[in-house]
Order: sequence, then C-alpha cells, then structure tokens
Amino acid sequence: MNPQDLAKRQAAEAALAYVEPGEVLGVGTGSTVNLFIDLLAEKKLAQDVKGAVSSSNASTERLKKIGIPVLDLNKTGTLSIYVDGADEANKHLQLIKGGGAALTREKIVAAASRKFVCIVDQSKQVDVLGKFPLPIEVIPMAQSYVGRELVRFGTPVLREGVVTDNGNVIIDLHGLNIVDPVKLETEINLITGVVCVGLFARRPADVLIVGTPDGARTLKP
Ligand code: A5P
Repeated sequence: MNPQDLAKRQAAEAALAYVEPGEVLGVGTGSTVNLFIDLLAEKKLAQDVKGAVSSSNASTERLKKIGIPVLDLNKTGTLSIYVDGADEANKHLQLIKGGGAALTREKIVAAASRKFVCIVDQSKQVDVLGKFPLPIEVIPMAQSYVGRELVRFGTPVLREGVVTDNGNVIIDLHGLNIVDPVKLETEINLITGVVCVGLFARRPADVLIVGTPDGARTLKP
C-alpha cells in the first residue's frame, strides 16, 4: 500500500471506535470511506450495525457486498454517527467535499446526523479552503445561467461527462481563497438552479481524524 493509502487506512481504522453496535450508521463516499467499509468487514463489525444510510450508489453497492442492509433515511430518523471523507479540511473542521460528485447526498446525511466524523489523510489539511476546486451540483437546464453567476467568485468549469446520482451536473469553481466559508456557502446556495455546494461550513465536521502512515490523530474544533 502506498503511503497515502496507508494514511487513509489509519484514519479509517481510528473511525471504527465511533461505530455503535445496534445503531444505523451514516456512510459517505470515496476511497477513504471504501477503506472504512472494508475494515467494517475485516474487523467483524459489519454484523453489529443495524444498517447504514449511504450517500451514493457506489457506497451502497460496497455496503451490500459485506452484508450491511442499506436503509432509507426517511425511515431511520436522525443518525447518531456519519463517517465520510473530504477533499480539504481547515482547523475549524469546515470542509470542501464533492470530488466524487456525491456532495448533495453527503450533505443531507451529515445534516441528519448528530456526529459527523470526517476521515482524511494529512494531505487534505489546509489553512485556507479553496485550492481544491469547489464542486457545485446544478440542475442541467440552469448550467449556463449558474456558470455566469459563479464568475463573480472564481472560474467555473463544467465537469465533463459526469452526471450525479440525482441526474444533475457538477460545476467545479477554481481559483478560490475562501476566507469566509459560511458567507460563500450561503451566497452560492442562493443562486437559482444550484442544488448544493460542496462547502461544509455551516455544518462542519464534529471530529476530524487525520491519518498518517504511522497513525492517526483526532481533532475537534
Ligand atoms: C465524494 O463526493 C467526496 O466528498 C469525498 O468524500 C471526497 O472526495 C474524499 O474522497 P477520497 O476519500 O477519495 O479522497
């Protein structure tokens, strides 16, 4: 395993401590979460959870493969724990997410969970969010209009060939230096046609587990 994957696995392994037997677990999307799902099977925790709410079709498939029932968030009510990765994280545990295009469902599951445990390798930690292009999910017919509106913040680029699990497109906003993440999240949310922006500032993570090849450290705001 290369050092970055090892660091992701260390973070994923540390998150197992948050898994509560008999509870429904919120599960995100991405390569770090994939390692977390694999570890649930490897450490025989999959049989202890009542089920999972998944943030993407890809994670749903992986969860089903290890025998975890995937449940409808409308039936489960509030979740106690949501485990997911991120593309960038600052010291306030505010995040950029959506590199895998699953940001809307991720934000919904995060909003419906009491504790959001974010698992990243050390390369994701930044002082200021915005070097990673900010993903924005947009209704297809609004794509050009939203693109024109986004020019006042940065350089919008349509993610070619990508359709989200919700049937929408992704615009990645480049060239940002996000000094006030709550303000930017609010302003982009207000553009008609935007479904969701991958800035998790109003609802940041509650716990950030940062993996290195040698271990993991846990940060709280
Ligand atoms: C998925 O849409 C994203 O929000 C992921 O959580 C994020 O891209 C992290 O992915 P990796 O764990 O693959 O880096």
